[in-house]
Amino acid sequence: MRSVPLHGRIRQALRSPVRRAVATAGVVALASAGVVAMASSASAAAGCRVTYTSSQWPGGFTAYATITNLGDAISSWNLGFDFPAAGQSVTQGWSATWTQSGQHVNAASLSWNGALATNASTQIGFNGAWTSSNPSPTVFTLNGVTCTGATSSPSASSSASSSPSTSTSPSSSTSPSSSTSPSSSTTSSPPPPGTHVDNPYAGATGYVNPEWKAKANAETGGSRISNTSTAVWLDRIAAINGVNGGMGLRAHLDAAVTQDAANGSTPLTIQFVIYDLPNRDCSALASNGELLIANNGLARYKTEYIDPIAAIMADSKYRNLRISTVIEPDSLPNLITNLSFAKCAEANSTGAYVQGVQYALNKLHALSNVYTYIDAAHHAWLGWDSNFGPTVNLFYTVASGTTAGVSSVDGFIVNTANTSATVEPNFTVGTTVNGTSVRQSKWVDWNQYVDEQSFAIGLRNALVSKGFQSGIGMLIDTSRNGWGNCVQTPCAAGGPATRPTSASTSTDVNTFVNNSRIDRRIHAGNWCNQSGAGMGYRPTASPAAGLDAYVWIKPPGESDGSSTEIPNDEGKGFDRMCDPTYTGNSLNGNNLSGALPNAPLAGQWFSAQFQQLMANAYPPLS
Ligand code: BGC
Repeated sequence: MRSVPLHGRIRQALRSPVRRAVATAGVVALASAGVVAMASSASAAAGCRVTYTSSQWPGGFTAYATITNLGDAISSWNLGFDFPAAGQSVTQGWSATWTQSGQHVNAASLSWNGALATNASTQIGFNGAWTSSNPSPTVFTLNGVTCTGATSSPSASSSASSSPSTSTSPSSSTSPSSSTSPSSSTTSSPPPPGTHVDNPYAGATGYVNPEWKAKANAETGGSRISNTSTAVWLDRIAAINGVNGGMGLRAHLDAAVTQDAANGSTPLTIQFVIYDLPNRDCSALASNGELLIANNGLARYKTEYIDPIAAIMADSKYRNLRISTVIEPDSLPNLITNLSFAKCAEANSTGAYVQGVQYALNKLHALSNVYTYIDAAHHAWLGWDSNFGPTVNLFYTVASGTTAGVSSVDGFIVNTANTSATVEPNFTVGTTVNGTSVRQSKWVDWNQYVDEQSFAIGLRNALVSKGFQSGIGMLIDTSRNGWGNCVQTPCAAGGPATRPTSASTSTDVNTFVNNSRIDRRIHAGNWCNQSGAGMGYRPTASPAAGLDAYVWIKPPGESDGSSTEIPNDEGKGFDRMCDPTYTGNSLNGNNLSGALPNAPLAGQWFSAQFQQLMANAYPPLS
């Protein structure tokens, strides 16, 4: 697989894998604070409730405000609040027009979300920056009226200046009784096994693939990480029964049942990658597959691949497992940016990718314990406006064309098998350097996003606005995007060899970005076996609002593609982007590929890559 994007003209990008697990204290501090404020009214009966949640990391945060109109119907609104701390700022907002003056913030409704009937709600959000501390605002006004959670009649209050139940002290920033963080809202016992829950990762443990674990354990130092949950890739029809005596789908599910039985009443989540569309990996060569559209590939995909997978997953033996499926990495994104490649054009004109994904969604969504996540490439493929809007439209068209419509989709995954940073801690897309936006740097290249978490949240919001269910959750594959110290060369021309711990002081935008970014790739369009990459955040459920999990989908140690041509019977080709001597093409700005040398075929064990990923892990392995 691969992926690459480029704005305005052609862009596409890459991917990588995932998984989930435990909170990683320290590094990405996840403060998810829920604050509820309410208010009383003015002339007509007015009243409102605002729930504010935020999740932060060093220097940045994402916040959501859910506004509920408790008064008479309104046709537009203005939300106001003050940041309690100096240095807090809105860098990029959505679903409202955001303005800030000093510490005061105002969000004005847009044409499509201004009308709020009595008791109706709408959610808006923004990405922000902070310096010394990041307390949540506690007092909110809607159309000038302080939100208290109560309604006042016209004669009741004049200016709503006092709101009895609302704390106005910045220091009491959280109200203990009002935690509304999506991830912390469930306090009761787990739902009955097999129930389709909102987030299959929440409160669950992750399946440890015994085959991956054995390979990791065979590596010096590998036992430090081998108990991590990684996805199982069903990358060909034969993988359903097991390739060369290896575990097939049933064997993995049986092992998952055993692991589930050993973890008490905690549910277990097992992840599969559905990856065998005809004309697979149509814009690259390394992960071309066994099926071709021209050779009846779509029909074979349905009957020889999806049908048996769904039939096995439907076995009642497995009904208590939470089965998470990642659907066809890179496929729909290739229809957005890569129609200049003949195999992608064919996938588009025949409808094979769309119909194949719809068929998979129909079969998998029909099983209540199966969860569907459509692959959405990564920010450096789809983050430009010219790609982002068409992506949202295509996803909506695909999902609404399934039997269950948009509800056949539980969420989307970004960064599958790619190495884009989850969060760039030293700058955001709103950062300017000596008056110049980082968007103008060569590295960012006018993208609207600089990392995967902001991209995932921005995409989620756009998808919900388009008509997807508000409960959809995003996954980020963090298996190889840790970017600790760069112990391998080449590793990003001109940048530091260690992970930058603070923003550069350079006033030149290119130097600033290159010396501040933790992603040490030579170019954000590089994707194959990247030099300098490290394991990223360990699988984590509900790491931020709107995110179901950080997951490990691409199993660390499995190659992205061979560095030289290797004959094989899997359909896999030789892609020069996996050759470290390749000087690139328009998709990576004619840069070196940054690939590690001596790599085996895509999917095969690559010890040097695994060792590098451990050495450069961030958070570091202990
Ligand atoms: C390969 C698959 C492999 C997967 C996970 C892909 O790039 O094409 O064969 O299963 O990576 O390693």
